[in-house]
Amino acid sequence: MLVVPLIERKRDGGALTPEEWSALVAAYTDGRVPDYQMAALLMAVLLRGLERHELAALTDAMLASGQRLAFDSWTTRRVDKHSTGGVGDKVSLVLAPLVAACGVAVPMMSGRGLGHTGGTLDKLEAIPGFRTGLSLAEAKAQVMKLGCVMIGQTPEIAPADGRLYALRDVTGTVEAIPLIAASIMSKKLAEGLNALVLDVKRGSGAFLPKLEQSLELARTMIALGEDRGCPTVALLTAMDRPLGRACGNALETEEAILALRGEGPEDLMEVTYALGVEMLLAAGIEKTSKKARQRLTNALASGLAAEKFEQIIAAQGGNPKTVEDPSVLPQAKEVEVYAAPRTGVVTHVEPRIIGRAVVAMGGGRLKVEDEVDPTVGFVITVKPGDKVLAGEPIASVFARDPGGMKLGFEALQLAIGVKDKLSVKPLPLISHRVSKDGVEKLV
Ligand code: URA
Repeated sequence: MLVVPLIERKRDGGALTPEEWSALVAAYTDGRVPDYQMAALLMAVLLRGLERHELAALTDAMLASGQRLAFDSWTTRRVDKHSTGGVGDKVSLVLAPLVAACGVAVPMMSGRGLGHTGGTLDKLEAIPGFRTGLSLAEAKAQVMKLGCVMIGQTPEIAPADGRLYALRDVTGTVEAIPLIAASIMSKKLAEGLNALVLDVKRGSGAFLPKLEQSLELARTMIALGEDRGCPTVALLTAMDRPLGRACGNALETEEAILALRGEGPEDLMEVTYALGVEMLLAAGIEKTSKKARQRLTNALASGLAAEKFEQIIAAQGGNPKTVEDPSVLPQAKEVEVYAAPRTGVVTHVEPRIIGRAVVAMGGGRLKVEDEVDPTVGFVITVKPGDKVLAGEPIASVFARDPGGMKLGFEALQLAIGVKDKLSVKPLPLISHRVSKDGVEKLV
């Protein structure tokens, strides 16, 4: 296939036809187009954008690159959620088992770490033995048995996204509305869903920091979903500070387990419940937000959600004891406490700096073939607006060697501001609900 003319056309602001997108994605997926040509095309897309018809064609081509989960006459409602990417965002690990414990099936296909953000697959794989690369048949059987599976892209399922996602991660081509939308929606539309809930991040740590960009991304994905028969809604949530306390794969998995056991940080639980309410309403299993929330809190308090996670872990080859005893997760070689440099108010905890530091310390990829170290990261116990005293412990750094520890400390010095008073108000945790009918402000 002749790729150079396509790259040149996109570079010069032209559009590719649906047939060209389809042929290109198919050729890239089966290895007939090299990474360097695809990387050049992705960069042209990032700079020039895609016409509406091109985005539809790219999404459909990525969807067609693999098979779909087909549940035929199985009547259990299937709903999933996907986040546009954040730091400390371990919501999926709590939400998928929680919603499944409420009787809605969640066939969840996730991604790995992308850019400065963490990925659900890397967090799950911190659990000793956990397999995210199930076959289509295994995934379907598990959904029908347990009501939930947590998998990644494989040669059978969403293979085009699997390759493009990994390439974008290491070529500076993540931050583009059409590429994010096609990546997310091609995966989600392959899951055989009855409805989809999106968590669109906004603020400095989001791939697209501005509110208008987050709204446009939400609207773009909703249109792709609705046009393909999948009712889709989105909540806009804050990513101007990390979500929860832990940032880094095994640390986040541990925090998610604590959340399933009823000990989750407040912001993580609020976002989880808000998305869970949308999922139960979309499934039609509850008619009001109040009842949906009650069902979720009951599933958590009764231990059913934690038990569901244990079953998922066991079914996917992981050590199910992890839920009872998270200390079986891999542990960092070096742990040190970081103290507040002065007395004052925490003005910011900058998620992009934290996320990049986790990657630099070994917790993410700089090249496609890099192995991820699950143990490294941070636990940050303060949020913007908190008062602190000089010398008070406000974070812990988890590193694999003294070099990593030094990087971690430098990152915290830059990321956490302590001043006399708060200068910029933190974003509301959950600010907008977007659906095909429009945008609703929640605060
Ligand atoms: N999540 C995805 O699956 N893809 C993106 O491009 C960003 C977030």
